Amino acid sequence: MPPAQNAPATGEQKPDYGLDAPGVFRGLLIGGFAAAIAGYFLVRWAFRENSGTALGLAFAVQNSGVGCLIGAALLFTSSRFGKLHLRDRLLNGLNLRGNEELLDVGCGHGLLLIGAAKKLPQGRAVGVDLWSQVDQGDNSRAATLRNAEIENVSDRVEVHDGDMRKLPFGDGTFDAVVANFAIHNIPSREGRREAIREIVRVLKPGGQVALSDMKSVALYAKELRTSGMRAVKISWPSFWTWPPARIATARKP
Ligand SMILES: C[S@@+](CC[C@H](N)C(=O)[O-])C[C@H]1O[C@@H](n2cnc3c(N)ncnc32)[C@H](O)[C@@H]1O
Repeated sequence: MPPAQNAPATGEQKPDYGLDAPGVFRGLLIGGFAAAIAGYFLVRWAFRENSGTALGLAFAVQNSGVGCLIGAALLFTSSRFGKLHLRDRLLNGLNLRGNEELLDVGCGHGLLLIGAAKKLPQGRAVGVDLWSQVDQGDNSRAATLRNAEIENVSDRVEVHDGDMRKLPFGDGTFDAVVANFAIHNIPSREGRREAIREIVRVLKPGGQVALSDMKSVALYAKELRTSGMRAVKISWPSFWTWPPARIATARKP
């Protein structure tokens, strides 16, 4: 018997959906602490010297340190909690019947992939990624498959190695294609457009896309329209993540 839809994770184990941009997080944390502490001592020194200019400078250093620490905290809470809300919003918007074939491009630890698999008791969720360690910490196919096991959906999850600019799937394979905070990692605009064209290529007629990201969403919407997609829309920003995200949705005629 297939596992129940939305079955709880097995035992005490909890899935780990990864820390996004770990280098940025570490930089903000270290830089923030260093600037906040240096700023504190500079403020004390400026008071002793009774210099207004030095005091202004010292406060600026201290405030930028505090700003970096707030940024690190937002990035962490977004990765650990906020993106789960964004996942639910994106997947609920697809109104899946339960028997679709869905592709998650840049699936990382499987946030959308596994969330979708829970909604597809008779379907299949496929992830594709090139496992960048810069974009997500401890990123690997093994970590994603481990999360699928913990969430009791291994029987309908598949993970492939590949680049979203050249998807390793035939034309018209999937009923839905989704992505979360993935496409912006391609550095060039043309590369991001290429990824959108590939997403449209692997969609079946009547298939739908939902692509959430922190930037370039207008570019995705434009390329979706140029590629012949219909009902192209961009959502209001979601502030559950930092930076806030918008979702581009569309349907293939
Ligand atoms: C910030 S992570 C987001 C992962 C996941 N979608 C999530 O929401 O947790 C971005 C992911 O995109 C993947 N990625 C970046 N460029 C890619 C490309 N050209 N093709 C496939 N995956 C890519 C990275 O390896 C990483 O797993």
